[in-house]
Amino acid sequence: MVLKVLVFLALVSVVVNSQQPNFNDDVLGLIFFKAGLKDPNAKLQSWSSDDNDPCNWMGVKCDPTTSRVTELHLDGLSLSGHIGRGLLRLQFLQVLSLSKNNLTGTINSELSHIGSLRVIDLSGNSLSGSVPDEFFAQCASLKSASFAMNSLTGQLPGSLSSCSTLVEANFSFNRISGQLPSGIWSLRSLQSLDVSGNLMEGEIPEGIGNLYDLRLIDFRDNRFSGRIPGDIGSCSHLKSVDFSDNYLYGALPDSMRSLGSCSSISLRGNSLRGQVPDWIGELTSLENLDLSANNFSGGIPFSLGKLQLLRELNLSMNQFTGALPESLANCYSLLAIDVSHNLLTGNVPSWISGNKLMGSLQVLDLSSNDLYGEIPSNIGVLSSLVFFNMSRNHLFGSIPDSIGELKTTQVIDLSCNMLNGSIPSEIGAAVSLKELRLQRNFLSGKIPTQIVNCSSLIDLNLSQNNLSGSIPPAISNLSNLEYVDLSMNGFTGSLPKELANLSQLMFFNISHNHLRGELPLGGFFNTIPTSSVAGNPWLCGSVVNRSCPAVHNKPIVLNPNSSDSISGSSPNHQRKKIVLSISALIAIGAAAFIVIGVVAITVLNIHVRSSMSRSPVALTLFGGEEFSCSPNNDLDYGKLVMFSGDADFAVGAHALLNKDCELGRGGFGVVYRTVLRDGRSVAIKKLTVSSLIKSQDEFEREVKKLGKFRHPNLVALAGYYWTPSLQLLIYEFVSSGSLFKHLHEPGRSCLSWRQRFNVILGMAKGLAYLHRMNLMHYNLKSTNVLLDCSGEAKVGDFGLARLLPMLDRGVLSSKIQSALGYMAPEFACKTVKITEKSDVYGYGVLVLEVITGKKPVEYMEDDVVVLCDMVRGALEVGRVEECIDGRLRSNFPAEEAIPVIKLGLICASQVPSNRPDMEEVVNILELIQCPSEGQEELE
Ligand SMILES: *[C@@H]1O[C@H](CO)[C@@H](O)[C@H](O)[C@H]1NC(C)=O
Ligand SMILES: *[C@@H]1O[C@H](CO)[C@@H](O)[C@H](O)[C@H]1NC(C)=O
Ligand SMILES: *[C@@H]1O[C@H](CO)[C@@H](O)[C@H](O)[C@H]1NC(C)=O
Ligand SMILES: *[C@@H]1O[C@H](CO)[C@@H](O)[C@H](O)[C@H]1NC(C)=O
Ligand SMILES: *[C@@H]1O[C@H](CO)[C@@H](O)[C@H](O)[C@H]1NC(C)=O
Ligand SMILES: *[C@@H]1O[C@H](CO)[C@@H](O)[C@H](O)[C@H]1NC(C)=O
Repeated sequence: MVLKVLVFLALVSVVVNSQQPNFNDDVLGLIFFKAGLKDPNAKLQSWSSDDNDPCNWMGVKCDPTTSRVTELHLDGLSLSGHIGRGLLRLQFLQVLSLSKNNLTGTINSELSHIGSLRVIDLSGNSLSGSVPDEFFAQCASLKSASFAMNSLTGQLPGSLSSCSTLVEANFSFNRISGQLPSGIWSLRSLQSLDVSGNLMEGEIPEGIGNLYDLRLIDFRDNRFSGRIPGDIGSCSHLKSVDFSDNYLYGALPDSMRSLGSCSSISLRGNSLRGQVPDWIGELTSLENLDLSANNFSGGIPFSLGKLQLLRELNLSMNQFTGALPESLANCYSLLAIDVSHNLLTGNVPSWISGNKLMGSLQVLDLSSNDLYGEIPSNIGVLSSLVFFNMSRNHLFGSIPDSIGELKTTQVIDLSCNMLNGSIPSEIGAAVSLKELRLQRNFLSGKIPTQIVNCSSLIDLNLSQNNLSGSIPPAISNLSNLEYVDLSMNGFTGSLPKELANLSQLMFFNISHNHLRGELPLGGFFNTIPTSSVAGNPWLCGSVVNRSCPAVHNKPIVLNPNSSDSISGSSPNHQRKKIVLSISALIAIGAAAFIVIGVVAITVLNIHVRSSMSRSPVALTLFGGEEFSCSPNNDLDYGKLVMFSGDADFAVGAHALLNKDCELGRGGFGVVYRTVLRDGRSVAIKKLTVSSLIKSQDEFEREVKKLGKFRHPNLVALAGYYWTPSLQLLIYEFVSSGSLFKHLHEPGRSCLSWRQRFNVILGMAKGLAYLHRMNLMHYNLKSTNVLLDCSGEAKVGDFGLARLLPMLDRGVLSSKIQSALGYMAPEFACKTVKITEKSDVYGYGVLVLEVITGKKPVEYMEDDVVVLCDMVRGALEVGRVEECIDGRLRSNFPAEEAIPVIKLGLICASQVPSNRPDMEEVVNILELIQCPSEGQEELE
């Protein structure tokens, strides 16, 4: 307030006493200027109207002889407000620098009336409006003008072209639009023009070659179109050219070969095309060459090797082909090479490690090419390397031990290659590592515990390899870890509790491994998404809604002879007690689930007619008649793989299975019987859910895994056939048909008690094996259990759920109906966690079905009888023997039958944790079967 009054008085006095000789115009102008500003930090305190000599004021410089103000430097003082007219009084001002404040308003065109002004820097404020046309109209001695980093709009004024003294002009980072003034290249003194970061468009006008003094031109990040000016090479002093991120097209103009003084050329992010000419090697001053993200093609010129000052070479995201020239080894100043995302072929260049001169290299990005070969074993000589990316190539062999010599390297990305062998323990010596990405290779072995020495590690991705062993507790000492992906490997054992201490963790994926035991409690693990732990059926903890057995153990008693008491047992016999653990009732959480359709072995005979050696093989009908019933009748050859016998051979997909011959069709597949040429009978399951099948790679991976499961009580998967539109699974043929037929189809001879018991035991052994191998069946029912000629039960159709990607409940829930009665209650609820215990439920129902000869759900005239409920009710009233299949006519030992029924009921318990696991079931059955071996009690 006081100040304003002072200013007002001063102005009045100026008006009144304008001829007064002693009055200093500079003081008045500055005070007036200050009056228009806000100065929150009181930086301009020294500016006082009482002081007649402004030369000592903050930011003010005077000519010592005349004591007139020549320079004003008020940069970065947090001043806000407008640039007032007071400055016009500073008649001898040469330098006005107000950068990095918070000044607002428009640019006052009258500032150019200060005839002495040479430098004006208003950059880094909040000025708006357009650059006034009059500003440059009479720029008597203006050499440098910067309006960078404001909010200026409109077009560049045409008058700019007439400001012949201008040496530097900086309009960068505003919102200036329109074209360059056509006369812009008449500014003969111009050395530097920066219009980067605006919205300018149109073509770059001809005539730039007139500017002999031009050193720097920065047009980056605009919308310029057209070609690079053909005469640009005439600017022979040009040091830096930046046209990046525009819409320029066409080839590099030949005149550019004259830019021998140029140290930086950046043409990134345009649509430039054609080859990079050999003359590029003549630009021997080049330190930075960035041609990335264009459409350049052809080979990378050998002549680049002449650029001995080159520090950064970025050719990424083009269509370069051929090999990386060996000559690059001569560019011994190189700090960064980025040739990623091209079509480069050939071997991994030997020079990347063969040349000591490469010791200064900090960035090496060869990713996303078609490079082939091994990682050089002496890669460690790149002793300055900070960023190393060779992902998405065709690298094979192992990761060299010398990787540990990369002591400064922060990022190593070798993902998506074909590397095998183990992760070298030397990795622990790469102490600067922040990101280690090795996913999608064929790495095996364990995670080396030495990794604990990589204490800066933030990002660790080892997913989709064949790694095994347990997850080393040492990992929990890597306290910076934020992102860890160990999914889709073969890790076993339990998770170290200490992992919960990783306080920065944001992602921890261990899905699809063989981990068991309790999930860590606390920290990130309280909120870990279910998808990050899925596919580890033996993990427990609240997150997976599976209670941990160790927490609540409660034994239940199963007495094989219900009238017998413990006291009746002989003390001489070792008593075997079977303890079935019942975990406490827990909430049942969400899970996805599938049922695969009916296996129906048909009598359709198809055999493979193979011409002798490498010619394609066609599957044809028995009579030799070819069929062409495949869905889209395609003539592509698919891929047939048999796990035993001959290796891969091809089959014409056009000649496959005939729709008319389908006898059994389930939700997901149809099955045919086939005789192979070698006489082997096989059952072929044609999957009818093509659209849901995973990609070929994943399909093959999963099927090969399933093919490894071999057990006398499982139907062996013998091979598969793949085309994108048709997938077949080839199974061992089991001669006597399904358990369903034996139990429920009229005209079958009745299974004896001993046969039934063997079926029950066989199924249990098969399932126990599957669960041991960490595979859930998902789809147990009597049509999926087959009997061979000696009556041995073989469980079929296991694990097909793994062939499907993310499950679509809508599609799948309709398939579930087929398994009605075998479905564990937890399937009915959408928020469900499905575990092996769900298989146990289905098995329990099967047991009751085998013993009673009744279907799990039978429809009477006006009633539905659910088998489990019926048997359970009968047991409660002591009449369970009446449930046993009447066809047996009392030809069964009650001391076996009753405990087996009880076992079946326990397996079919409503609460998953009450069900025993299959291993326990096998033990119990074996005890029930041989009571003479001991006075076992099933407690
Ligand atoms: C400019 O002003 C804004 C508020 O108007 C404030 O947030 C910012 O910190 C100021 N900047 C400077 C450099 O003083
Ligand atoms: C233009 O101004 C901006 C902001 O002050 C600065 O970063 C840039 O280097 C200047 N351009 C030139 C060519 O000096
Ligand atoms: C690169 O060139 C090809 C054909 O030569 C064209 O299809 C493609 O759109 C171009 N890409 C760019 C980014 O200009
Ligand atoms: C090379 O250019 C690409 C695309 O312009 C960019 O993403 C990348 O960061 C650059 N590489 C280096 C090492 O600067
Ligand atoms: C390595 O390169 C690939 C492909 O070019 C890219 O997807 C990946 O993000 C890069 N890795 C790192 C750590 O930057
Ligand atoms: C890795 O693969 C190569 C072939 O690519 C093979 O010769 C070598 O034996 C494999 N090494 C290991 C450890 O599996």
